[in-house]
Amino acid sequence: MTANPQSDAATESTAKDRVIIFDTTLRDGEQCPGATMTLEEKLQVADLLDEMGVDVIEAGFPIASNGDFEAVSLVAARMKNASVCGLARAAFKDIDRAAEALKGARRPRIHTFISTSPVHMKWKLQKTPDEVHELVVAQVSRARNHVEDVEWSCEDGTRTEHDFLCKVVESAIRAGATTINIPDTVGYTTPEEYFALIKMVRERVPNSDKAIFSVHCHDDLGMAVANSLAGLRAGARQIECTVNGIGERAGNAAMEEVVMAIQTRGDVLPFASGIKTEMLTRASKLVSAVTSFPVQYNKAVVGRNAFAHESGIHQDGMLKHTQTYEIMTPESVGVKQTSLVMGKHSGRNAFREKLKQLGYQLGDNEFEDAFNRFKDLADRKKVVYDEDIEALVDQEIATAQDRIKLVSLSVIAGTHGPQRATMRLEVDGARVLEEAEGNGPVDAVFNAIKALVPHDAKLELYQVHAVTEGTDAQAEVSVRLSEGGKTVTGRGADPDTLVASAKAYLSALNKLILKREQLHSTAAE
Ligand code: KIV
Ligand code: ZN
Repeated sequence: MTANPQSDAATESTAKDRVIIFDTTLRDGEQCPGATMTLEEKLQVADLLDEMGVDVIEAGFPIASNGDFEAVSLVAARMKNASVCGLARAAFKDIDRAAEALKGARRPRIHTFISTSPVHMKWKLQKTPDEVHELVVAQVSRARNHVEDVEWSCEDGTRTEHDFLCKVVESAIRAGATTINIPDTVGYTTPEEYFALIKMVRERVPNSDKAIFSVHCHDDLGMAVANSLAGLRAGARQIECTVNGIGERAGNAAMEEVVMAIQTRGDVLPFASGIKTEMLTRASKLVSAVTSFPVQYNKAVVGRNAFAHESGIHQDGMLKHTQTYEIMTPESVGVKQTSLVMGKHSGRNAFREKLKQLGYQLGDNEFEDAFNRFKDLADRKKVVYDEDIEALVDQEIATAQDRIKLVSLSVIAGTHGPQRATMRLEVDGARVLEEAEGNGPVDAVFNAIKALVPHDAKLELYQVHAVTEGTDAQAEVSVRLSEGGKTVTGRGADPDTLVASAKAYLSALNKLILKREQLHSTAAE
């Protein structure tokens, strides 16, 4: 390790190879169980990704649903810097739909894929290698007729036979693919093996210099980031990743980890990304808020403990010199050593300043709503911490498009049951009221919701944690619902745990309704 990794990394950046950061939070991330985002949430995430310097944003899978199509079109039309990418299977209708969704993009990219491993070709596709090869050529050519920037992925690339892999990669490049992605779809490979695979393909494929090679690693064995970095060392120059590592099953390589590994270990990873690393924490919080997926406390780079030093020995070392126990600074990833304390006497200007510090840019109406909610909170809580404001604003963003909203709730709880909840909701603009009993106050609250909005979804998870310390802390509740094999997660925060529970349940229910609508719109096509 160098004596001063942070300053070395900064001064060496000009001599380093630029790595393309391809973010698939809105596609691979959003397609994982429970991570459904509303259109408004997708746009918020896309705006932030664009602002933080992501090179390519995979905004969705346009043929999958009308909702996905709309999201890709809107993201395409508003990104100022990033290329916008739409995913397509190896089918003309998929590719044409992706091209249509990308019409408004300054820099459109079509990403088409097909499985190439023996197990996928035999069991999933039920096609011979020759049939798959033909499809690759036909589909890449079709995509290339629509746009100049075409990415082709060999799904399950790490379990594909080498001769066949080289043959299809060569054909894809000849048909016009400008990026070749070799995914570790099932999270099976190891760093050494992946390094050797990427190197082998680049060396054996005669036209490999005509395309950029890309890595896309899943985290089933916890090696997605290590594998991605090994791929870079073998010559890949694009990494596909997601904020907080969300994605199918165990997730994808986490963007914040990849980017900070490159930045911090420039001595052994001589690469540079265009990411404004000070925005990583903000991105992590936004994605966590809109998906309702909590970030584990000890998560690398963005976990709440990532820069916390509890043991006496560590604290002593830190006081003497921060580099004793810190390999990167909290500021470099956007953790603020905060200053401005907020309370009930804070006015609009202070609140605006605080939002700016925390990285939020709200429109006038959103700002007024958030300010009113902040005032309500400050009346109930002596000190309003940054985490409180983040929970409040994130909730504001997350509920803006909800069809079902909580209007009021009162609950009778205590040692003498049954507990009772009286709840008023606004459903599609109409107010409805219900009283319900339950085996405990939370059960009574959820029964009231079920009576007002009948549904068969199963409650799979109910989890409460405190946003900050103290008995007046806001409770943050996560709820996971499942229906017909689809799961969604909702989150709600409030100083009253029961109100937070109602909000979380309603947030999940709103997402479930959205998901049902998306499925219907796809089925109707
Ligand atoms: O994991 C995977 O193989 C994918 C492809 C669609 C690139 O997500
Ligand atoms: Zn994937």
